[in-house]
Formats: sequence, C-alpha cells, structure tokens
Amino acid sequence: MSARLVPVGWNRSKLVIDAVAAASVAAYLLAYVRLAPLLQSLSLPPDDNTVLMRAYGSCAFLLLTFVLGIGPLTRLDPRFLPLLYNRRHLGVLTCVIAAAHVQAVLDWYFAYSSVPPVEAMLASDPGFFTLHGIPFIPFGVLAFGVLVVLAATSHDFWLGFLTPPVWKAIHMTVYGAYAAAVLHVVLGALRATADPTLAMVLAAGLGSLIVLHLAAAHQERRRDAAQAAPGTQTPWVSAGPAAAVPEGGAIVVHPPGGEPVAIFRHLGRLSAVSNLCAHQNGPLGEGRVVDGCITCPWHGFQYRLEDGCAPPPFSEKLATYRLRLRGETLELDPRPNPPGTRVDPLPVAVPATPAPDDFFIGWAAAPPRALRVLLGALVLGVPLGFGALGLVLGRAADDPGSGAFNWDAGEQHVVGTVTAHPYPLLYLPSGHTLMLVGLGKSGVELDPALDGRRVAATGVMIRRGTLDMLQVDDVAPVDGPAIVPAPVPFGRWRLVGEICDGKCETGAMRPGSGLAHRACAMLCLAGGVPPVFVTAGPVEGTGFLLLAGPDGGPVAAAVRALTALRVEIEGTLERRGDLFLMRADPDRVRLR
Ligand code: HEM
Ligand code: FES
Repeated sequence: MSARLVPVGWNRSKLVIDAVAAASVAAYLLAYVRLAPLLQSLSLPPDDNTVLMRAYGSCAFLLLTFVLGIGPLTRLDPRFLPLLYNRRHLGVLTCVIAAAHVQAVLDWYFAYSSVPPVEAMLASDPGFFTLHGIPFIPFGVLAFGVLVVLAATSHDFWLGFLTPPVWKAIHMTVYGAYAAAVLHVVLGALRATADPTLAMVLAAGLGSLIVLHLAAAHQERRRDAAQAAPGTQTPWVSAGPAAAVPEGGAIVVHPPGGEPVAIFRHLGRLSAVSNLCAHQNGPLGEGRVVDGCITCPWHGFQYRLEDGCAPPPFSEKLATYRLRLRGETLELDPRPNPPGTRVDPLPVAVPATPAPDDFFIGWAAAPPRALRVLLGALVLGVPLGFGALGLVLGRAADDPGSGAFNWDAGEQHVVGTVTAHPYPLLYLPSGHTLMLVGLGKSGVELDPALDGRRVAATGVMIRRGTLDMLQVDDVAPVDGPAIVPAPVPFGRWRLVGEICDGKCETGAMRPGSGLAHRACAMLCLAGGVPPVFVTAGPVEGTGFLLLAGPDGGPVAAAVRALTALRVEIEGTLERRGDLFLMRADPDRVRLR
C-alpha cells in the first residue's frame, strides 16, 4: 500500500530474496542428502527416507529460527528491512519444508501399518508422560499444525477479514510453534543420537535468537531512555529537545503508563501519532516521511502527518497526540486523540539533522548502498552458509550398522522345519535358525497345520550379523523329516538393553532401533513382528535375544510401550538352534 497507490507486489529485491531462499534450501538439502554421505565412512548409510526426513526436518527448523530472527535484526540494523518484507514468504516456505518432513515420516515410519499412516502416527505412542517415554512426535504435530494455520492465513485477505489485532495474535503463536519444535527435537532426535552436532546447531540457533531479541530490546530501551525523560508537569511530558527529531524521521517517546508515541518532523513541522502501525503494529517511529506521509518500515503502510489517516482509498487510522514547545524542549500530551483526529503540525524554528537515508521499503527505491550490501551478502553468503550447515548436519548421522534387506541376492528358497510358538521360526538342517516375518509391519500368517512340519519357504533375507530373518512370500509343506532342535537352557540372567521389533532391528530399517524409531517399533509389534532384546553387552557371543513371556509364549503386546527405552529385564535364557530366546516377565521390566 502506498499514497502513490503502488501495489506492494513483486519487485526486484523481493524476487531476489525469494530466489536466494529457494537456492539456500536447495543447497542445504543437496549437501545433506548427496554430499554428506560421500564424506562418511559408515557400514551402510541410513535409509534414503530417514535421510530425507532428517534433511527436511532440520531445514525447516533452521529456516524457522532464521524467520524469527528477522524482526530483531531489522530493529538492530535497518539494512535488514528487505528481509522483513519477505518474512511471510519465508514462513510459507518453512511450512512447505515441514510438510515434506512430515510426508517423509509418514511414508517411512507409519506406512505399511494396518491403519492409515496419519491414524497410525496419532495413535502410535500410548506411553505419554511416563518418565522416560515423553513422546516427541506430538510436539512435532503441534508445531506443524501452527505452521499450517499461519501459512494458510498469511495472505492480506485474512488480515482484513480477521482484523489486524486478531491476525497479529494468531501469528504470535509462531513462538509457541518454535518452542514445540525445540521440544520435538530435544525429546526426539537429540536423545536418539550420540553425536553432539545436532545439539550444537540447535543451541547455536536458539542462543542466537535469544541474543538477537535481547539486543534489540536493549537497544530500544536505551533509545527510549535517551529520548524521553518523564516531564515534571501533568499531564504534559517532556519529549526532549525539539532538535533531536530528525527531518524526515522520528523519535519515539514512552510516556509513563501510556502507549509509545512517534514524533515525526516534516518540512520543519512536528506531528505525533501512535507508534504502532494499524497494519501489524509495526514500529512507525522507525519509519520515514515518504511522499509527505509517515511510512511504516515494515510493509509500507502510510499515514498523513496532520490526522494519522491513511490516504484514500485506504481507511486505516492512527491515534494522534498534541505537542507544544517550552523554549527548545518539546512536550507531549500523552492522552491519545481518537484515531484520525486532526492536530495541526507544530512549526519549529530549531534546525534538525536529516534522517539517515538507509530507509528501505518494499515498493520504494532502495538506497543503492544498503541494497548492494544486503543482496551481496544474501546471494553469496546465505546459500553457501546454509549448504555448509547441511553438510555438517548430514555428516553427523549415527552409524546404523550393517543390517539390511538382501534385495541384491534376490528371492531365497530355504527348506527346514517350521514352528509357530512363540513366534514363527524356521530351523534349517545346518543348525541355523531363521525368524519369519510378513510384509510391511506384520508378522507371518502361518497355517496352523504347518506347525512342526518340514516346509520350503521363499522370501527376501534381512541380515544383521548373526541375526537373520526371512520376509516370507510363500511357505509350503515338503516331504522329509521334521527336525526341531531341543531347547538348550543357559540359566538365569539380568540384562540391560533395548526392546526392538525384530524386523527393523535386523535391518528392514536403518536405523531400526532407538527413540526416533519408537513409534514404528510399537506399530510393528502390534502387527505381529516378534520382539528382540538387544543387550548392551553380548551374551554367549550374541547381542540379540528373541523375547518371550515367562511361560515361553508371545509377549509383544505386553512390551509394546517399553520399546526404544533403556530397560533392565530378568529371565531365563535358552538356545533354539543358534538363536537365543529370553523368557522374561514383562511386569518386571524396569526402566533404567
Ligand atoms: C506431524 C509433525 C511431525 C512429525 C510426525 C515429525 C516426526 C519426526 C521424527 C519421527 C523424527 C525423527 C527422525 C530421526 O531422528 O530419525 C523427527 C526429527 C526431526 N524433526 Fe520432526 N516431525 C514433525 C514436525 C516437525 C516440525 C514442524 C519441525 C520443525 C519446524 C520438525 C523438525 C525436526 C527436526 C529438526 C528433527 C531432527 C532431524 C535430525 O535428526 O537431524 N519436525 N521428526
Ligand atoms: S506493520 Fe505492516 S505496514 Fe506497518
């Protein structure tokens, strides 16, 4: 909006800033996904989906941090004002990237469930607010929900429809979204990784944001204190020397107990209006007089000096104030006139210095120096810096180990004896025992008639060290002897470790364990995938124990809520073929 009716639309600097933002995001994602793995020496990289999910999540978080830093940056140095003009675009971009993060999460952790992915996500974690199990996903959902509302109402239509105060109140919830995003990362990804890089980047982002806000608030307080000493007479208050009001600019006065007031000087005459812009409460006192109108530094709304009204056809109005001179000292009546009340500007004879020409508003010509500095820094610095951040964070991924689907080996055909209790197992003549599992997040549906029979099974092998699992396509009876090795007891044990779903832990996902994987593990167990206990230290040469109840029966439902946490279990160990099975009482599993 402008008195000259120049629409606040696309212009060169706005396009450049949007292009720089898009390039920065692309540089970040490229560095994270494509370049970082080249610099890593992992057994096998994490799954593509996991990498994408982390790349989008961290990108959305960093962008949100940057968006929240723009406000205080512009208060500290007006050369950043062009960024403020693009803040809403950056906010919408943040929401789009967060949506890509959510989509990647749904496509990986919550797909292949028996219920739709969104339902699986919302219902995945029953262990809300147990000491160790505070789930991090609901905080992500909250942050994303707020970002969607903000992006959906970012157009000026909603500003007019909702009225500026309501719109502003809604958009202030972005700080709540940021707090929720911080909790999401602190309770989730940070607890799930041993690498300190993410923690350092998070602390640096959060810390800079706090420092920027404090510095801007401090600068504002100092400016106010220098400009407005409380008056001695009531109700008039001193606004300091009249010569302090720069020609074409303003000072801000904070009358005790009242609203801040901006006092502008234009052609040697002073006018006072509310310091809060009627658009989004922008700081009018940091604006300038452009084309004879007070011009807000944030989005360029304009107001006449003599009555605080926006020039036709616009209808915004500001409260105006009376001014008077006592010698060379300016005094202000802090009682506001109703918005739009005419107050004749006060002529002053004292000379004043002109306001600095660093003012930049979207629709007006930018001072070339300010534009050169800012755009130079943006075009060169931001994509490079953001790309480097992507590289640093991408490199920090924990090693998910060597477990993986053996797609390359193709469909396997194996013959052995199958048993159904407590979970379907296939005993091979070689003495090797295979766990059997179905597609996606489901156990294998074994025909009861096959229990204890010799069968031929086909499927894809999932392998992690000594732990093998067959994702079964077909099981059919074959002739020949059925041989089930007798269980070999190995005594009673108390062990510390993590309960995982056997399929992801074996390597169906990389990583297939840890807190980030908790919801997925719970869905897998609910779908009939056998639980595996991963011990902190090896037992009889293995770190993986199939987990059963004290009676040797299935135990998945009872230990669902205990997955992905550090727990202590106690029970008896027995060997079945070359696979160890732990019989433990789920009621006696303790969090460690
Ligand atoms: C429906 C909403 C959301 C869901 C379901 C969700 C889910 C997840 C999951 C499962 C992870 C763990 C990934 C891993 O460590 O392997 C994760 C990590 C993360 N999420 Fe979200 N999230 C949501 C929203 C958000 C939002 C709105 C933001 C930021 C604005 C965000 C930022 C992050 C970050 C920074 C990480 C850590 C990435 C890393 O490990 O480097 N998430 N999220
Ligand atoms: S706050 Fe938007 S123009 Fe003033």
